[in-house]
Order: sequence, then structure tokens, then C-alpha cells
Amino acid sequence: MRLAARLAALSALVLTAVSVGALPSSAVASSLPVASSAVASSAIASSDVASSAAVSSGVEVSSAVSAASSYAISSAAASSYAASSAVVTSYAVSSAIASSAVSSAISASAATSAPSVPLTGEVSGVSYTVSSTYTIYGDPVPTNPPSLATSPTAGEPPYNSGSGTEVGWQTLSISSYAFSSFPVVSPTPLPPVFPSYSPLYPPPVENSGSQIVPDFSDAWDVAFAKAEAFVSGLTLEQKVNITTGEYQEPILCVGNIAPVADWPGLCLQDSPLGVRDTDFNTLFPAGITVAATFNRTMMRLRGLEMGQEFRGKGVNVALGPMMNMGRVAQGGRNWEGFGTDAFLSGEAAYETVLGLQSVGVQACAKHYVDYEQEYKRTQESSNVDDRTQHEIYQKPFLRAVMAGSASVMCSYNMINDTYACENDRTLNQLLKGEIGFRGYVMSDWGAQMSTLSAVAGLDMTMAGGIHLSTPDGGSWWGPNLTAFVDNGTISMARMDDMATRIMAGYYLLGQDNNYPNVSFNASSLYDTVHDKHIDVQADHYKLVREIGGAGAVLLKNTDGALPLNKPRSIILVGSDAGNGAMGANGYSDRGGDDGILGVGWGSGTANYPYLVSPAAAIQERARLDGSSLTNWYLDWDTEGAASAVEQVDVAIVFVNSDSGEGYITVDGNWGDRDNLTLWHNADNLIQAVAAANNNTIVVAHSVGPSIIDSWAENPNVTGIIWANVAGQEAGNAITDVLYGAVNPSGRLPYTIAKALEDYGVFLILGGDNDTILSIPYTEGLFYDYRRFDQYNITPRYEFGFGLSYTTFEYYNLAVSVLPQYDPTDLALEAAWEAGVPTPQGEGSSTAFWLHRPYVQVQFEVQNTGALAGTEIPQVYVHFPTGSGEPPSLLKGFDAIYLEPGEVQTVTITIPRYELSIWDIIAQGWSKPEGSFTLSVGASSRDFRLTGPIPI
Ligand code: NOJ
Repeated sequence: MRLAARLAALSALVLTAVSVGALPSSAVASSLPVASSAVASSAIASSDVASSAAVSSGVEVSSAVSAASSYAISSAAASSYAASSAVVTSYAVSSAIASSAVSSAISASAATSAPSVPLTGEVSGVSYTVSSTYTIYGDPVPTNPPSLATSPTAGEPPYNSGSGTEVGWQTLSISSYAFSSFPVVSPTPLPPVFPSYSPLYPPPVENSGSQIVPDFSDAWDVAFAKAEAFVSGLTLEQKVNITTGEYQEPILCVGNIAPVADWPGLCLQDSPLGVRDTDFNTLFPAGITVAATFNRTMMRLRGLEMGQEFRGKGVNVALGPMMNMGRVAQGGRNWEGFGTDAFLSGEAAYETVLGLQSVGVQACAKHYVDYEQEYKRTQESSNVDDRTQHEIYQKPFLRAVMAGSASVMCSYNMINDTYACENDRTLNQLLKGEIGFRGYVMSDWGAQMSTLSAVAGLDMTMAGGIHLSTPDGGSWWGPNLTAFVDNGTISMARMDDMATRIMAGYYLLGQDNNYPNVSFNASSLYDTVHDKHIDVQADHYKLVREIGGAGAVLLKNTDGALPLNKPRSIILVGSDAGNGAMGANGYSDRGGDDGILGVGWGSGTANYPYLVSPAAAIQERARLDGSSLTNWYLDWDTEGAASAVEQVDVAIVFVNSDSGEGYITVDGNWGDRDNLTLWHNADNLIQAVAAANNNTIVVAHSVGPSIIDSWAENPNVTGIIWANVAGQEAGNAITDVLYGAVNPSGRLPYTIAKALEDYGVFLILGGDNDTILSIPYTEGLFYDYRRFDQYNITPRYEFGFGLSYTTFEYYNLAVSVLPQYDPTDLALEAAWEAGVPTPQGEGSSTAFWLHRPYVQVQFEVQNTGALAGTEIPQVYVHFPTGSGEPPSLLKGFDAIYLEPGEVQTVTITIPRYELSIWDIIAQGWSKPEGSFTLSVGASSRDFRLTGPIPI
């Protein structure tokens, strides 16, 4: 099966790409709602997944198979929704990366693997069917899912109910918000709410966005019931041990919770792009690269395959995804995250968490929150206003929580002068209260600052010791926490809450059921006792390559310079084309840069199993084509480069820009980039080559935006590809794009400015050892494209920009308000429509009415060129004047594969939440007064269709 088909099959929802030709808008509008028929074939047992499991080790088999099962079951559940509700609108009118080839592959797959003995059940009044043909971690498929869906204990109030503030002489209350009945789950969840009784069965992925809001509350209830039962049998010391990392040798993972009674404890391990510190693992493309795909299927599948590897190694908690917001273009860790837009970042976080957890691994959404620079990361206060906090920095965390993330990691910095890991406002009020997060908060390694952080919302300390480097310095918790509870400073109720939350995360993911043991030692690959060197890679390199191709952004292509067509002679210029001198893993935590850049540096990395350089991959192709291939890797010898490229048909200059975590300094950069100049003399090298060769193509492997104005408009630079950081298959991925095996569809997840100053938001530097830096976020909502739009600053390449080898046209915009589903929320909906802010607390992960599809945007896209390709249509909302919002905000996107001439109707929905602003007085989400419009187009500045939103 083609890889695209495999992805579509894995995505499980059979999303029929509705090819309607050029319908008039009225016809488009009247075609909805339609009955869902496609979902009938939803039980896709991806035979590819099953077979990929077979090639892997024994440990892998069960997890890979379970991936297939979870998707199959999810889609089956979705289909029963369609069957059980008279008012259901079709959620099938969308597109995976479906082409006709994909659709037929799906049908074939469905035909051979339809469930033989379907099981039916009912969750909260909604019936569903699950397949019984798959094995889930050696368990039978639950035969009675409704039993899993009951409340913790019959007759008990739901979790978080009752009210009260902790009293006594202790200095801090558990929380200053009352434990209200929030979060409130709709008592009669109707489509498109998806009551998943386990994160192992997530809602299906759709490239057009979440049409279904997952409801994991039943799963949490069950997990809490088990956790409460377990914790109730523990001594105080045992409860404390669950919360305190084991920080003295011997430990195996970067974070460890020691066994308690017959419970085996927890292994926590980096990173957001693969299993760190091991071997026989995959190094996936970084977060920034999968963000650049704007493709939810790839986001989900990357999470899923990473999850398989974490599980296969015995890791309970994968320390990702990372969702810091790229506020400062130079920020060292931006590449670990998903770019500068809160909506895109939120969608990527959501899909990654669903993917990771679908195979039973706990996700850890990090770093909460406002951690946007490496310099003095433990000695800075990010001073952020309430609206900006809600609308930008917190938003991806809300989405991660909606996906059921078991844990969240608080960050090193302060927020408004209080450390993130003892910040009652962000942890208790916002995360656990307003958002409704039911899992546990762990500290970043060494980010805990006091024992009393427990009452401010911290549940687990990592790595456990006060000092990272001096483990004998003791712990804020451990015996200190025991003493604080013993003497009443911290209540036993809070102690129980901490341990219970942690255990709930464990049960939520079913880790009490045959979870693999840790089989590596993060400190040493040569530990012959513990390191079993289990191969967890399966065929994940395929997805790595596909994401690398789909995440490469074509910025310039003059007169069809690309794709290459059997050039007679090629020269590769620049050290980024080849292998580094010390090999792929020569620098610890990838803290060096002298060859192809596949990832930045720091804890957000993994070991490469191998690293395909562009030179190696292009050489394979040159041999087939009979092209002559030479190279010039001496970045600083520009004269030599200029003479080497003369007379060559095409000169491809490979350049890069690197950054990472602040504990490593590379080439003078303390994590953050000193500037936005490409590394290794790149600007001079490119200009020298372009002066000598009028067909110069530039490929940049960059951790983020760089300033390229000295050569971007040079007419001899005929092509520019911004390839991001693509992981172990970087060379193959870029070769696919250069030669047109992949038609580029990547889009910039940030703005490339003409000058660094244009970004307007910079690193705050200076101070001495004792200084606490103040970082005022005075730009509010206005950084990256929101600032460029607001102040009419022309970027070099705008957010969302990216070219293709084909062309696309957009037609027939139709914007409508969807019929409403849930009678129980009608009053809330009406109030919102009248501009009344949501009640305090609403807006959480479980305020389904706020997150359900509300406005439907429909239009057609046609491939008007000669090559098949994928278009990324983007929806930007223009809020009413006076609302204080930026001119345009991304609120929807899709990835549509089209054959030449093909037309597809695209349907994207927008929930009320995305049409709301945060009201700082009322502390709720509200619809601002005035007229809303939206634009649909190919970037944040390339609008093709615009119309009013009738709300
Ligand atoms: C510190 C980093 O900030 C965090 O992202 C990582 O997970 C931990 N170290 C553990 O390595």
C-alpha cells in the first residue's frame, strides 16, 4: 500500500473526499447536512500496521497491533453515532489525504478486515459497536464498556465536586478557587461529542479538524476510582514516594518513581521527538517540522508511532509534546514546539497527545507556561496579562487536556513573579480549575522551589532532588513532605489528591495491564544488566521521510527550476549536505553542528539510529539519472566554491541554523540563537555561488526563521526550500522534494521577516548571577504574523506561506451556522450569542457546547496545474473592529490531495471558542460585538475568498 494510503487507512475514519465539480455555492450549502454512509466501512484494520508490528520485536508487536485496534474501534464508535442520531450531520464530508487511490485502498482494506464479531454497547445513552478482531495488549476487547463508564463509586458525587478551601494554619490554601461542580459534562452527550471510555480509543483523525469533541470524563472517573482504591491502602511515606522522583543511583530513566508495594513505579523519559538516550529507536522530525505539514493525520500518526517506541522501551510517561509558542524568533527551543500560532500549536498538541496515548503511553504536555527563552530560564519572570495568557500561551494546553493528557510539566521560569511550579494562579486556578485538568503536574527537572509548592498545585517533583547536579542535597519533598503533612502544614487531603492524580494517569492509560518493563539505561548504553537494546523502530522511517517531505516549505521557484529533471551535472555546496565529522551522534545531545542538521540540541533530542545526508540520497538518484555529482563542503572558502560551481547545471547550496537548550553552548550560542543569521558563513557562501551559477537552489535546514534578505531576491537563486529539521531521513526527504517525488505542501509555521528588528519581540539579556530578569509580554497578542499584519510590516515570507509544483484555485465560499444539537446547553449557547461571557469556569476541556462545530465554512479547491499535489487551505477569521484582536487569526486548515484538474469541496468547522475573546473582567469567553468576516486562502496574506460570518 502506498504510504499516503497507509496514512489514510490508519486515520481510520473513512472520510470520503466529495468530488463535486464546480458546484454553485447554493448547491454546496444544500448538500449539508447529509447522512453519513462512508462511516459504515470504518472498521479499518490497517493490515500495514499489523504487519509493521510483525517485523518488530516481541515487545513491539502488541503495541503496534493495539494501534490498529484503537483506530478501528474509534471509527466504529463514530459510525454508530451516525446511526443512532436522527439529527446527525455527516462528518464524512471532509478529506483525509484521500485521493481515489487512497479511497480504493481503504475499501480493499475494509473488505478484508471487517470485524467478524461486532460487540455493541452503550455509553451515556449512545450506542456503539466495537470490533472484536483485535488484540489489545493481550487483553480481550472490553466486553462491557458501559461498566467502564460508570462514576467512581455509585452514589458518590462526581470528582471535583463539593466546595471548600483548605483551612488551618498552613500558609497557602490548596486553591483559591472553590471546588465547584465544574467541569460539568453534558448529561446527554450528543454528536459530535465523542465519549471515549479510554484514551486507547481516541476519536478518529480528520485533516479538516476535530469535528468531534472527545469526552474522556468516563475514562477519568474509572481511573480515579482505581487510583483512590490504591492510594487508600498506602502509608503516608508511600504516598510521598509516589510524588517524589528517585534521584539517587541506580536509576534507569531521566525521571523515576520508585516502586511502592507491588506497584512497579514509573519511568519518565524524553523527548518530544522520540525516545532519548537509547538505541534502536527512531529520531522523528521535530515538532516544528510536523507543524509545517499542516496535516493532522501526520501529527496523529507521528504521536502514535513515537508512542509505540516509548511503550516498547518500557517508558510510562513520554515527556512531550512541547508547546512553547515561539514568542521570540531566537528562542533556543522553538523547534521542539509547533510554531508561533496558538491554533496550529493547539491542533498539533491535540493530535500528538491522542496519538501517543492511543498506545497506552502517558503524554506530558510541557512546559507550562510562558517559558520562551533559554537565557536565565530559572531567573526570569514572564509578566503576562490575563487575556494574552488565555488566548495564546494557555491555549495549546487546553487542547492537550481535551485530548486527555495524563500529565503536564511546569516550567523553570516565573510567571508574574511566582515560579511556574508553585504558581497557584496557573496551576490550581487555570489548569486544574478553569481548564479542568484531572491529571498530575510534574516539575521540570529542578524547577521545584519549595515544599509548599504542593499546595500551589504541584503533584510530582522531578527529578526529585533539590539540585540536579548534587543529588545528596536532599529533596523539597521526600522526608520534608512527610514532615509537612505530619505537622499539618500540608493537609492529608492534598497529599491524597497528589498521589491519586498520579495513579489516575497510570490507570487512565491501562498501564496496570502488562506494561513492558524498562529495558534501557538512560545514563549508559553500555549497561549490560539493564540495557536490552530492544529494537522499537518497526517501519517508522517511512513516516519520518514522509513528514520530512511534507514539512519542507518551497519558498521560491523561478521558471520551474524545481523539480529537478535529470540534470546533467549537479554540485552540492555547504557542509549541511554531508555527514558531520564525528558521525550522527558525535555530539552529546546533538550539541554540535558540522554536517546535515536533522534536529536542534538538548533534552528534546534522541540518538540517531542513522542519519541520511542529502549527499547520500542525491547520489542514489544521480546514479539512476546518469547525472554527474560533485560537492564543495568548505563553507568558508567562498572563492573555491565559486569556481567549483561554474559550468554546473544546478548548484544546490545546503545551509542551516541551529539552537537548543541552554545547558549546552554551541558556537557561542547559549541555547537561544545569538542572531538570526544562517550558520557557517551561509549568506556569503550563497552569494558567491549565485554569482557564479545562475541556477542556484538553496536548501535551509533551520530550527526557525532566519534572515535571508541578502540573497532571497537574487535572480540567480532560482529556488529556496525551507526544510526545517527533518530527523533521521532528512536527506531522503529533501531529495523527494527536489526531484518531485513529493510535491511540496509544507507551510511556514512562523513568519520569515526581512530584518530581525521587524519581529519586535526579543530576548531579554543581561543581569548577573542574582538577577531575576523581568520579561514583560507587552506585545500582548501581537507577535509574529499578528504583529506584521497589525502594523503593516511586510515580511519576506508570511506565516502559512508555501508553494507547490502545481497551482490551485478556490471557488464558491459558503459560510453557515450549523444546527445545534444539545438541548441542555441551549441557554448557554443563546447567552453566548448575545455577547454574554461564559460563566466562570466554562471554556474548559469539558464545556462541549463551546468546542463543538458551530460555523461551517465550505468552499471548493481545484488543482489547476499539471501535477498532482496537496493544497493546504487555511481559514482566517477577522474579528470585529474594536475587539482588540489582530487583523487575521488562523482558525482552520485542511490538507487536500488533488489530481490535476480535480475539484474537491472542503468543509471546515469553527467552534464558538475560536470566535471568542477572553473577557478579563467577567473571566469568561465572549463573542465580541460587531461583524465577523473570514477569509480562505493559501497563507495568512494570500486570501482567495472572503465573506461574512452570519453570527
Ligand atoms: C529539562 C527540560 O526542560 C525538559 O524538557 C526535559 O523533559 C527535562 N529536562 C528532562 O530531561
